[in-house]
Amino acid sequence: MRIKQILKTKSTEQHISVKGWVRTNRDSKTNAFIAINDGSCMSNLQVFVDKEILTDQDVLHRATTGASIEVKGILVESPGKGQSVEVRAEEIIIIGDCPEDYPLQKKRHSNEFLREIGHLRGRTNTYSAVVRVRSAMSFAVHKFFQEKGFVNLHTPIITASDAEGAGEMFQVTTLPFHTFNSKAGIDYSRDFFGKKASLTVSGQLSAETYATAVGDVYTFGPTFRAENSNTTRHLAEFWMIEPEMAFCDIFGDMDLAEEFLKYILNYVLEHCAEDMEFFNKWVSKGILDQLNSVVKSDFARITYTEAIEELIKSGKKFEFPVTWGIDLASEHERFLSEEVYKRPVIVYNYPKEIKAFYMKLNDDGKTVRAMDVLAPGIGEIIGGSEREDSYDQLISRIEELGLEKEDYDWYLDLRKYGTVPHAGFGLGFERMIQYVTGMTNIRDVIPYARTPKNCNF
Ligand code: 4AD
Ligand code: MG
Repeated sequence: MRIKQILKTKSTEQHISVKGWVRTNRDSKTNAFIAINDGSCMSNLQVFVDKEILTDQDVLHRATTGASIEVKGILVESPGKGQSVEVRAEEIIIIGDCPEDYPLQKKRHSNEFLREIGHLRGRTNTYSAVVRVRSAMSFAVHKFFQEKGFVNLHTPIITASDAEGAGEMFQVTTLPFHTFNSKAGIDYSRDFFGKKASLTVSGQLSAETYATAVGDVYTFGPTFRAENSNTTRHLAEFWMIEPEMAFCDIFGDMDLAEEFLKYILNYVLEHCAEDMEFFNKWVSKGILDQLNSVVKSDFARITYTEAIEELIKSGKKFEFPVTWGIDLASEHERFLSEEVYKRPVIVYNYPKEIKAFYMKLNDDGKTVRAMDVLAPGIGEIIGGSEREDSYDQLISRIEELGLEKEDYDWYLDLRKYGTVPHAGFGLGFERMIQYVTGMTNIRDVIPYARTPKNCNF
């Protein structure tokens, strides 16, 4: 039985067998208490050992912190405090010994230290809780969209288009290295795909093609960005959820984003109670109250222009000065959500200069129908927009920005043949996990973080 199941059971006095890793082993003259954990939940199972019944006393010396063991015995109501049931051991079997240099001893380790032992950190309370919550959130994402009738779309990971026009992509090639040092330039016709190819930065453009075929779609996959950002919110490899809806405008897009985020929060609060208690107590005090109040209240919604006015009005001195036209920095985003509104804020209608080419131009000719969701503690967690659905407008944006029209022929076709208003957004999955758990560094909410100069394990 898994420990999660055992701790829930009401039927004591039954024989059980349980396997896990020793967390602690308190030994006295006549008996011993071993706490074991199998990762199924935060709690350990207490094993009571009456030394007289053990035929092999050596197992107690070998059941050290980190060792893997099997315990056979009777489940009984626990006379001690802290647990409702415990196991009275009849037999202990050592599955794998754990020598003394095991780095995870009883004391609490720093997240920095644990990052260096990424292959073992999953055995700590914090990191096993993170990965369980992450798994529940992943399930909630699919549940939300499937219940709404969205079609799950697997968009390509290798791509020949640069969706965001940002140009910070990892290249995929089979050409020999010396090719890249040659003065003659690189002949991509000899490369695997016969052209330059990269890892995707977003599945959006491919999602748009299917949204204009089957209606509402969503993708949930890995995305890659070769930006040299060493921050607590950037990864080179992260996971993104991108819904795309036909016959939908920017306001429908915001409604879906808000409903979606609240659904995930509710799901976690309901299904990950024990792990969330842990985060509330040890990682981010008060996070439970905060999330519980967010699911009950409406997100604030303001235009970019109003956001700039709020920032200027505050009189606060920011590292990056505020004027109309700047891209909001994370200090601005956090100020709006943490200080001004004290909850998530949706900012929309950004200047076209700071947003991607595909966003729909407003009638003012200056702003586009972009919307970002900003969360307390994080800043931007969602970026989305209504897409430009006019063929002529899109062509002129592509030309204005000096992009190659031929590269976007297929994308333009969507506007040529039965165009529809459509909209979507991308949620950075790891940023959402940070928001939910209160973990301050994005490297700590993905099992194996990829960041500049760091690709271990
Ligand atoms: O705002 P972004 O760049 O939007 C897009 O990629 C659109 N194509 C999405 C769409 O409309 N379908 O990225 C979306 C989100 C951000 O809000 C952020 O949460 C996350 O992806 N994100 C990152 N997360 C971790 N590390 C990075 N380097 C990230 N870059 C973006
Ligand atoms: Mg963005």
